[in-house]
Amino acid sequence: MASCSVGFGRLDGGLTCDGVSVEAIRDKIGRDSPFFLYSQSQLDANVLAYHSALDSLSMPGGAIIGYSIKANNNLSVLRRLGSQGTGAVVVSGNELRTARLCGIPSDKIVYNGNGKTKAEITFAVSEGVLLSVDSQFDLANITACAKASGAAARVMIRINPDIDPKVHPYISTGIMSSKFGIEKNLVDEYISAIQAAGPDVVSLEGLHCHLGSTISDTKIFQDATDAMLRYVDHVEAAVGAPLKVLDIGGGLGIDYYRGTKGDVSMPTPMDLIDSIRSKLQGRQFTFMLEPGRSLVANTGIFVAPVTGTKSNGAKHFVVVDGSMTEVIRPSLYDAYHHIEYTAAGVEPAAEAEEEKKVFDVVGPVCESADFLGKDRLLAVPHTGQAVAVFDVGAYCYTMASNYNMRVRPGEYMTSAGGSQLCTIRKPEEFSDLIRMCIAADEIDPINIA
Ligand code: LLP
Repeated sequence: MASCSVGFGRLDGGLTCDGVSVEAIRDKIGRDSPFFLYSQSQLDANVLAYHSALDSLSMPGGAIIGYSIKANNNLSVLRRLGSQGTGAVVVSGNELRTARLCGIPSDKIVYNGNGKTKAEITFAVSEGVLLSVDSQFDLANITACAKASGAAARVMIRINPDIDPKVHPYISTGIMSSKFGIEKNLVDEYISAIQAAGPDVVSLEGLHCHLGSTISDTKIFQDATDAMLRYVDHVEAAVGAPLKVLDIGGGLGIDYYRGTKGDVSMPTPMDLIDSIRSKLQGRQFTFMLEPGRSLVANTGIFVAPVTGTKSNGAKHFVVVDGSMTEVIRPSLYDAYHHIEYTAAGVEPAAEAEEEKKVFDVVGPVCESADFLGKDRLLAVPHTGQAVAVFDVGAYCYTMASNYNMRVRPGEYMTSAGGSQLCTIRKPEEFSDLIRMCIAADEIDPINIA
């Protein structure tokens, strides 16, 4: 990797973030502390790539980047994205609160979810955001909540188009065996139910689908677009009016191998749009995408100091102060995250091929599933070395836990082109872990006999 003023690179062998030495950042934060580090320049570049792609469509009804905030909900990340014009896609009342708190306007927010509670729906209706209808009970709840609150619910129907995105089964969401979306053959029934409720209660504004995550082939988006445009035509004919929105979801993958594996080539946002451009020509609706990972994943690294090395027979381990509690994706999806040391080797020889060994990079958590990387060819780490786990800006902090009473680490972001470092979330402390437990002398039993 060459030194780079946008994102992560190398200078004199040491890892850099926005051109600044990660070792120097470790000196500031504390060399023994694990932490997440985000590159603001990379974030800006990623948003720009989406804006350029969507702007190039020149849709008469406009286009919206609905940032899927489950990927990374740090307020600073959201404010930065919001200030650059992105909308938000939320899946809980609290994500909706967070999006609003960060200044994202209601007319750019979509609320998805297969299990929205009545309280969440009522809140979403009062905020005027677009809700996706996921099932019959969901539509019944939306109708009831809208009636009770006296405001119309703006909705899209989320269709499960039964297209296989060819990704890990846990993150495949648009096939019939998935719990998401309505059965595609039942669209007419939903239209009838919405029409029966009346436009002052439920206003049908569009259609939605989301096939899955880590999609690497634009053909999948083409298939989704073809299928959804057929539904748009069908629904428009049935209701006798144009739909305002078509939202084909998120799911664009990233190259987690960071160019180290020859056969991986990942489409860019422009490649995605190019692949469906002609299909959208002449359409009047607002076109929406819901990217999460492809906006934020490559903006972050997780820095974990090396605690030691050990061998069990022929198996060698680098044990770090970082684990499945901060980066669960390897354990949960068998996902690959690239790993490198932050500092250059002390001796140049330490980086030489013959000095390297095949290591599993593991954490201290009491689970054999606790690994960050398996079978990695790495130099034997020198004292004080740390690993950087790459592409952790999406679905890592948001999926972090306190298992084994590990505190969640701090999050930091560069700003002003790398000349400043900002704490954007403080590291937790022991007191945070026991805060919600009731002290022995404050326990107040309720009689339930
Ligand atoms: N829209 C909907 C309706 C979604 O369910 C998701 C992700 C997205 C958009 C954003 O997808 P993206 O562009 O980030 O792929 N924890 C898993 C990913 C779960 C994704 C869930 N839905 C992982 O770490 O890979």
